[in-house]
Amino acid sequence: MNPVSATPTTTPAAVSPEQADVVAVHGGKPLVGEVGVRGAKNLVTKAMVAALLADEPSVLSNVPVIRDVAVVRGLLEAHAVSVTDTAPGELTLDPRGVKSAHFAEIDAHAGSSRIPILFCGPLLHQLGEAFVPDLGGCHIGDRPINFHLDALRAFGAEVEKSPDGIALRAPKRLTGAKVELPYPSVGATEQVLLTAVRAKGVTELINAAVEPEIMDLIQVLQKMGAIISVETNRTILIEGVDSLGPYEHKAIFDRNEAASWAAAALATRGNIFVRGAEQLDLMTFLNVYRKVGGEFTVKPEGIEFRHPGGELHPVVVETDVHPGFMTDWQQPMVVALTQAQGQSIVHETVYEKRFGFTEALVDMGARIEVHKEGIASITRRVPRRPLEQAAVITGPTPLHGANIRVPDLRGGFSHIIAAVTAEGESVVSNVGIISRGYEHLWEKLEGLGASFELRG
Ligand code: EPU
Repeated sequence: MNPVSATPTTTPAAVSPEQADVVAVHGGKPLVGEVGVRGAKNLVTKAMVAALLADEPSVLSNVPVIRDVAVVRGLLEAHAVSVTDTAPGELTLDPRGVKSAHFAEIDAHAGSSRIPILFCGPLLHQLGEAFVPDLGGCHIGDRPINFHLDALRAFGAEVEKSPDGIALRAPKRLTGAKVELPYPSVGATEQVLLTAVRAKGVTELINAAVEPEIMDLIQVLQKMGAIISVETNRTILIEGVDSLGPYEHKAIFDRNEAASWAAAALATRGNIFVRGAEQLDLMTFLNVYRKVGGEFTVKPEGIEFRHPGGELHPVVVETDVHPGFMTDWQQPMVVALTQAQGQSIVHETVYEKRFGFTEALVDMGARIEVHKEGIASITRRVPRRPLEQAAVITGPTPLHGANIRVPDLRGGFSHIIAAVTAEGESVVSNVGIISRGYEHLWEKLEGLGASFELRG
């Protein structure tokens, strides 16, 4: 793990939460109190793109203030879609003036986001062309887009790669296709949905992802006039329609943020009520939480998560596609598992580089070994893939402060929890990346009693 290269020279605490890139955390205190979670990053950004398919303005509510939403907003505005804040947490998205954007502008707005790939289907329908710059996103493996491009070609799009990115054209109306995904990819499933709804004829999508955010996107599209049926065997049938109308939709809650705070309560021996969290979409997480020894109470307005006061227990858990244990949940849970009595195994099956964050935890005193080839289990939803890895965590290990650097969004949140759990001061750099997916992080941490100061 790269240590912070130099002591920040700016005055501590003179920095606004939006500008903060380094945080000095004084750990060793439990997090206690309440946080609210709003709409899921991984739905909101896609629903914003779906508005492009309509002929009238759509209204999306429960929208969090996070950087990924700002990125999509910038991309929509670059395509002359007007995006207006009509109420707190509510956006009105008007696609009536949509037009092509210059690739340099798309590139500038996209930043490190992977969202531009999902603009392809809607833009091909509306304008007959689309452009995807070189894609970023979190550094958690190769994150290829071959499934997306293969699906778009199956609909009849022409795909041309250039040094700046990928140019796509639809010489005539896209047509429905039979698409079988090699892996139930979330993004590729969304790609097919956003393209098939207005393609001519029927699309059969085999081996689709069925994450709750995808079901919420399907609800958005159905409100717009799409005809989509979800079969029992990961098959989705989409009957294309000629045009789509607007939607009014309240985004599903962010289950990744909810799980992050739940793990934070466990790691810090605290108690956090997560307002807005719902049981159904966290069921698999809750089972693991309970096995580790965490306690929770489901209430009508949210879920209270707490450390039981005694010892935590080790677990063996494998990340998986829905309804399995999400890959985005493992990082904060690994921090909690450093405090469990015995050996836990977390087997990552979705991405190939999602244990980079553990190096910082080791610097803080954790005992974690990453096995590059993973540890196979008996029951699998999808066939084993060569990218799998496993982390073996031996606890309990008291954590101590260290200078650490955030590698990616979820790893970043786990570093913050680790720093709050650790005795002494930790200096965590590159924290700006966490605002891609966590709304009002610093305000929430302060409200839970964390002690820290932000630096530029
Ligand atoms: N894959 C390919 N080719 C493709 C697409 C995916 O090989 O064309 C592979 C990936 O490399 C990976 C696997 O398929 O090994 C799964 O990727 P998937 O497409 O499902 O992920 P994604 O759509 O890029 C979304 C979330 C991720 C979340 C995953 C899994 C968004 C913006 N991102 O990514 O969230 O981890 O699904 O649920 O929705 C996060 O929020 O921090 C985050 C990374």
